[in-house]
Amino acid sequence: MEDIKYAPIGVFDSGVGGLTVAREIMRQIPEERIVYFGDTARVPYGSKSKETIIRFSRQIIHFLRTKEVKAVVVACNTASALALETLQPELDIPIIGVVTPGAKVAANTTKNGKIGVIATESTIESHLYTKVIRQHNPRAQVFGKACPLFCPLVEEGWLKDPVTVEVATRYLNPLLETGIDTLVMGCTHYPLLRPVLRQIMGEKVNLVNPAYETARELKELLEQNGLANDGQRPPEGTMHRFYVSDAANKFRQFANTIIPYGVDTTQLVHIEDY
Ligand code: DGL
Repeated sequence: MEDIKYAPIGVFDSGVGGLTVAREIMRQIPEERIVYFGDTARVPYGSKSKETIIRFSRQIIHFLRTKEVKAVVVACNTASALALETLQPELDIPIIGVVTPGAKVAANTTKNGKIGVIATESTIESHLYTKVIRQHNPRAQVFGKACPLFCPLVEEGWLKDPVTVEVATRYLNPLLETGIDTLVMGCTHYPLLRPVLRQIMGEKVNLVNPAYETARELKELLEQNGLANDGQRPPEGTMHRFYVSDAANKFRQFANTIIPYGVDTTQLVHIEDY
């Protein structure tokens, strides 16, 4: 059997957004191979119930295990917030989500203890960001705000459009008034809106991208578990693999704007079979 160190990492999301996390993993640990699954048939997750998100996530993890992944990254904030705690004990390989790494860095870097979190409705309602931030900084005040219009705007490609600026201003104004010095971009799509968020929040507010912190923690986790690829690179073109549950062409188009690598080989999966 091939050494587990050379096995790929499974990364999944409700759709294209998790590619911002995959991109960060590719940047920080370029020797690791990724098997990415985007649940494009059942997106969005951000307005669905906990039971549904657990069921979807369990199926996806079953699928990823058929690809013999050595670890799983839940790249979706909503799935991390609603399903990770339930699924972690079911697995005998490491699994991490994006919420804890993002929350920890926000808790540890805020100076005035006022932290904003923007995310989907389900992530905000789970209060997981607040819980983890408080575990690491008990005096922190956390201000959550669901921004449901951001995902469709990003998928439309309106990253700097005046409409996006207007929508973002409405969402963020109440957060600005609280005096936060840190804002967690707690949804996979939001880091793509960083220029608009920066424009509205100003230079003094620290924008936290959980994807960055997750890739950093993943690297540590692989090293601690003796799972890090020690440098053997597979042949070019076989590095990463992409799977979706629907609309592979649309996924490819969007994905190519985020990751200029290998997404042309995206394959369709009947995820309900897993
Ligand atoms: N990937 C989701 C998240 O990070 C956003 C898109 C969705 O609602 O499915 O929460």
